[in-house]
Amino acid sequence: MNTIEMSQEQQTFSMPRIGDKAPEFKAVTTQGEINFPSDYKGSWTILFSHPADFTPVCTSEFMTFAHLEEKFNKANCKLVGLSVDGLYSHIAWLRTIKDKIEFNGMKDIEVKFPLIEDITMNVAKKYGMIQPGEHQTQAVRAVFFIDPESTVRAIIYYPLSLGRNFDEIYRALIAMQTSDKFNVATPADWEPGKDVIISPAGSCGVAEERMTKSEDLECKDWFFCTKKLDKDTVLKEVLK
Ligand code: BEZ
Repeated sequence: MNTIEMSQEQQTFSMPRIGDKAPEFKAVTTQGEINFPSDYKGSWTILFSHPADFTPVCTSEFMTFAHLEEKFNKANCKLVGLSVDGLYSHIAWLRTIKDKIEFNGMKDIEVKFPLIEDITMNVAKKYGMIQPGEHQTQAVRAVFFIDPESTVRAIIYYPLSLGRNFDEIYRALIAMQTSDKFNVATPADWEPGKDVIISPAGSCGVAEERMTKSEDLECKDWFFCTKKLDKDTVLKEVLK
C-alpha cells in the first residue's frame, strides 16, 4: 500500500472517541455555511448522519427529528444532519417531505435544522461515518452528542436498515446533562424522576459510613448507593 492509499484508508477509519474534541470542519448546509463546532459552542449539539436522501428509513427519521426539534432545543441542544448527497438533492428531498409525506401521524413537516452536503465525504470520513463493511459511499446512522465545550460525550452507530429511537437519543441527552449538573450517574433505563447513583465509596471509611450513617441514601451494598432526585429539580436545571 502506498502512502496516499494509506492515508485515505486511515481517513476512512478515523473515528472521534468519547472525550475527544469534535473534529473541525466548514460545510455548506441547507441553512447556509457552518463552521463546526465553533458555531455551536455554548450549546449541546447532536451531529447525525444518514445514508441517503429520498430513502424511506431516512425520511421517517428526518420527520421524527424535525417534529422533536423544539423539544431538543429546550434542552439546549441543536441538531445538525449529514449525508453524502449534494445541496440540491437535500433541498428537493426536504421539500418533498414537507409537501407529500405522512408518517406516524406527522405531516407538513418542515426540517429547519441544517443538513450538510458531503459529496466529498470529507466530514463523514472525519467522523467515522463511512464504514466500508456496511457501505462504501453511504454513511451509517451515526449520532454524536457534543457538549457545550465541543467535547464528544457519546456516540451511537446503527446500520443502514435500522431506524433510530429518538426517545433514547433524548433520554441520553437529558441523562448526561443531569450527570454534569448534579454530579451523579444514571442507572439502566433511568429517566427524570427515577433515583440516581452517587459515586462509589473511595475509602473503607466512606464505605462503612455509607452502610451505617447515610440517611438520604439507599445503599444496596457499599459500592451501590442511590439517592432521590425529583423530576422537577432535574427539568428545572436542564430545560430552558
Ligand atoms: C433507508 O433509509 O430506507 C435506507 C437507506 C439505505 C439502505 C437501506 C435503507
